[in-house]
Amino acid sequence: MSRVTMQDILNHEITQKFVKRSGLAHAVATAEYALKLSKVHRVNPDLAVKAAFLHDIGHYTWYRNGKWDYSLYKENDIHAIKGAERAHKLLIRLGEHPVNAKKIALAVLLHTDSYLPEGELHLDPLQNVVALADKCDEEPGGSHHYKQISDYDAFQRLGELDEQIEKALETDENAQSASVS
Ligand SMILES: [Fe+2]
Ligand SMILES: [Fe+2]
Repeated sequence: MSRVTMQDILNHEITQKFVKRSGLAHAVATAEYALKLSKVHRVNPDLAVKAAFLHDIGHYTWYRNGKWDYSLYKENDIHAIKGAERAHKLLIRLGEHPVNAKKIALAVLLHTDSYLPEGELHLDPLQNVVALADKCDEEPGGSHHYKQISDYDAFQRLGELDEQIEKALETDENAQSASVS
């Protein structure tokens, strides 16, 4: 089965509608951070980059009188829950393996604890990489959601990520088969 690429994900209508709502530039930057972090934390780069790119796909716009209303957001937001489901549906439609789609959806679900009344999350290494990557691109007042990127630049940068992921997966496979023989 051939790999579902980042460019396949970008081109899908679900991505075009919902990732753009919460900010395509933030999604691309978070995906780039996730690739770097996946090396440090030794997690699967393909899963980390996909989850990072899709982590905010569940956002809804909480506006009151034409302005973003943070209290309305804080009270009602379930973007991680909604995003996990949306990312899963998108990935399955694109032909992602269900085991991978589930891992990515869980990392999306757990990328923030902002929707939990209290308590803390215990993250596995993949989920931790995605949460860290999101924090790396965070800006005060949520302005990371409003950064701009052209469709062309997003496509190019995701294409570069695809190349690096494929290289990393290949190297990993070689390393594994070398240690077996
Ligand atoms: Fe988020
Ligand atoms: Fe985010």
